[in-house]
Amino acid sequence: MKERLEALRKEALEQLQGVADAAHLNDLRVHYLGKKGQLTEILRGMGALSAEERPVIGQVGNEVRAAIEAVIAEKQEGFDAAATAHRLQAETIDVTLPGKAVGVGSVHPLNKVTMEIEDIFIGMGYTVAEGPEVETDFFNFEALNLPKNHPARDMQDSFYITDEILLRTQTSPVQIRTMKAMNGKTPVKVICPGRVYRRDDDDATHSFMFHQIEGLVIGPNIRMSDLKGTLLQFVQEMYGPQMQIRLRPSFFPFTEPSAEVDVTCAQCGGSGCRMCKHTGWIEILGCGMVHPKVLEHGGYDPTEVTGFAFGMGVERIALLKYGIDDIRHFYANDTKFLSQFAKM
Ligand code: DAH
Repeated sequence: MKERLEALRKEALEQLQGVADAAHLNDLRVHYLGKKGQLTEILRGMGALSAEERPVIGQVGNEVRAAIEAVIAEKQEGFDAAATAHRLQAETIDVTLPGKAVGVGSVHPLNKVTMEIEDIFIGMGYTVAEGPEVETDFFNFEALNLPKNHPARDMQDSFYITDEILLRTQTSPVQIRTMKAMNGKTPVKVICPGRVYRRDDDDATHSFMFHQIEGLVIGPNIRMSDLKGTLLQFVQEMYGPQMQIRLRPSFFPFTEPSAEVDVTCAQCGGSGCRMCKHTGWIEILGCGMVHPKVLEHGGYDPTEVTGFAFGMGVERIALLKYGIDDIRHFYANDTKFLSQFAKM
């Protein structure tokens, strides 16, 4: 019996040496040490042994079991360690890999310029007013001293919706809406940003839709020098303290007198270049003293108050500020173009 036990130990240890995986290891454990396994099978014959032999054989049996169990435990440990290593390997995260960039949008250059202009005027005590883009003929033309058949209406080919309703061609109608809302009170000090529409063919400098900012100030004793000082302050904050302005006589139906305002050419600093057609000046806005008829339409008495107004194109201001050569860039939504303004 002792020989059988020794033979079993030898066989089991040989088998265990070649075990390939945990499942095979378990099969061998059951085969040799299980309730119906080989060891139990041999030890069942103990009953036939003498009283002296029994403890001796019993001891050998225990030794064989312990030896087999020890190798099984060692193998099991090896398999467990390998499985853990495998899992760690599979779940490895390379923390040195660059992360996936999350795209962050940027403020559109037209909005950026609009906000900058708003900030400058808010700093001078203005408030921001808005009006509808779908406007009546009365507010867009009539109340601004452009009666029907007035030749100045030809300057602005308009998108009419009905005979009386159109897409506003300028932000000037917000002047009238603001005056009416103020109900004769002074001072009025507003700027009015917004979209305007004209039946222009789109090209590098024209678009059927663009943006304007209107300004209006009304009070007792508002003079043209106030207008000039205000615009100079604006231009120097917007483009730099070295900038100058000049006013050229012009005509707008809603102002009298009217002027066009030029600013020092930012490109050449006023010495003359291609951009300013060698004049040293760039035109940036229209302005004037509010026409008495416009004050009346707004509910003010032109013998008691005076005012000035101005209007500028946001695209034009942005083109000059950033040196952009084509207005269509603003509407194409090309992120390569737009992202350039993220850090400006
Ligand atoms: N509304 C004019 C335009 O669209 C711009 C303008 C000129 C507005 C003179 C004004 C102004 O308020 O006084 O061309």
